Amino acid sequence: MHIICDEENKMKRIPEPFRIKMVEPIKMTTREERVKALEEAGYNPFLLKSDDVYIDLLTDSGTGAMSDYQWAGMMMGDEAYAGSRNYFNLQKSVDHFFRYKYVVPTHQGRGAEQILFPALINRMRDVRGGDKPVFISNFHFDTTAAHVEMNGAKAINVVTEKAFDTTTYDDWKGDFDLQKLEDEIAKHGAKNVAAIITTVTCNSSGGQPISLANMRAVYEIAQKNDIPVVIDSARYCENAYFIKQREKGYENHSITDIIREMYTYGDMLTMSAKKDPLVNIGGMCAIREKEELFRAVRTLCVPMEGFVTYGGLAGRDMEALARGMHEGADEDFLHYRISQVKYLGDRLMEGGVPIQYPTGGHAVFVDARKILPHIPGDQFPAQALCNALYLEAGVRPVEIGSFLLGRDPETGKQKEAPLELVRLTIPRRVYTNDHMDYIADALIDVAKNADKLKGFEFEYEPPVLRHFTARLKPIK
Ligand code: F0G
Repeated sequence: MHIICDEENKMKRIPEPFRIKMVEPIKMTTREERVKALEEAGYNPFLLKSDDVYIDLLTDSGTGAMSDYQWAGMMMGDEAYAGSRNYFNLQKSVDHFFRYKYVVPTHQGRGAEQILFPALINRMRDVRGGDKPVFISNFHFDTTAAHVEMNGAKAINVVTEKAFDTTTYDDWKGDFDLQKLEDEIAKHGAKNVAAIITTVTCNSSGGQPISLANMRAVYEIAQKNDIPVVIDSARYCENAYFIKQREKGYENHSITDIIREMYTYGDMLTMSAKKDPLVNIGGMCAIREKEELFRAVRTLCVPMEGFVTYGGLAGRDMEALARGMHEGADEDFLHYRISQVKYLGDRLMEGGVPIQYPTGGHAVFVDARKILPHIPGDQFPAQALCNALYLEAGVRPVEIGSFLLGRDPETGKQKEAPLELVRLTIPRRVYTNDHMDYIADALIDVAKNADKLKGFEFEYEPPVLRHFTARLKPIK
């Protein structure tokens, strides 16, 4: 077994389990060029041109590198409108890992959300007699919450309190608080809970894993109350790897076996395949056995995503996905992958930069409030740190704090963010460990001089999802 969360393996560099057959040059920029680019982007890294970025840590979504085997599969695309052979290959991969009977491909994760959630709400009304729909999750990803709300339902998060204490180690900062889950079900009435969403890993708490014991307990509570469980599956392989490392009794299980057990604690899944399954575009909704729900999802798929055997994907994309699912679950790959993210986290901690500890699967989350205590939330300390890192080194991280959170729709006041985080999201198989050293050196330098950094205010603030397109200016 590879244990990498302990002290003994601190700062360990695990060599890449691949060699490089094709390269993509990236531009090195000067500080002057970056000053200009950032000003033109309204001090919002989302508005930078990717050509002006040296190392792009905005997201791990769709930014991974496909293998030669996946690219070879791209040539095997069967672009038939209906019944493409690649759909059946995808179905085989889904059956292999999840043992779910029904699959609907979608263009990405939110495509699956938009065809599943209305069907779940209808089922709640028609079968279970509810009338005020809520969804309860360890933590809804932001587009997931948006789809819940767009369907007139409420999104409730009940992740463990331990997730908000960034400095204290815990194996399972993605776990549900089971008491809170039961309390919320009682408060809203089981018939109104359209579904429980188990997010693996929990992106919003720092790519933190959820234990099998917790998934099992959540499923038991759901069954007792006749509530369906959806597994939000963007990073299921990384979650399985953490289970193998940390959960008692699973040291000798294969990643595939752990994934199979995880999915017995759910009735269906939505997946953004742009993460663990190593494709640049793709997603799916899969259902274990509820045929009537599958029919409802397929009915929505046709007008929203496309015919039921392609759902917004080309045949070649489905083939790359069917193959990528096997590569993403490869233990040697996961060992390298998780170690690379951990190595960056270790280097930062060693250099005095506070992070969500332990590091998660796909990203290091830096605690900007601790670095910039002099900048209040409504002047966006984490955004100030993102901008400073870009200016210093051409590295583009993403803010997960007040700037992303936005205003209370009723009062118009800035919402209070529980944490002000900078996410350094690591694309899969794209950057080397030398890149990690470069990022760490730059951020350690920026943090040392953080007392000189200033906050930001709006020059332009869009009314919804403002963080994508807002323009800022530095406060003098
Ligand atoms: N669920 C989770 C847990 C996610 O992290 C994401 C996307 C989605 C659903 C939506 O999937 O983007 O394919 O439509 N997360 C990306 C990120 C965008 O940067 O964390 P999608």
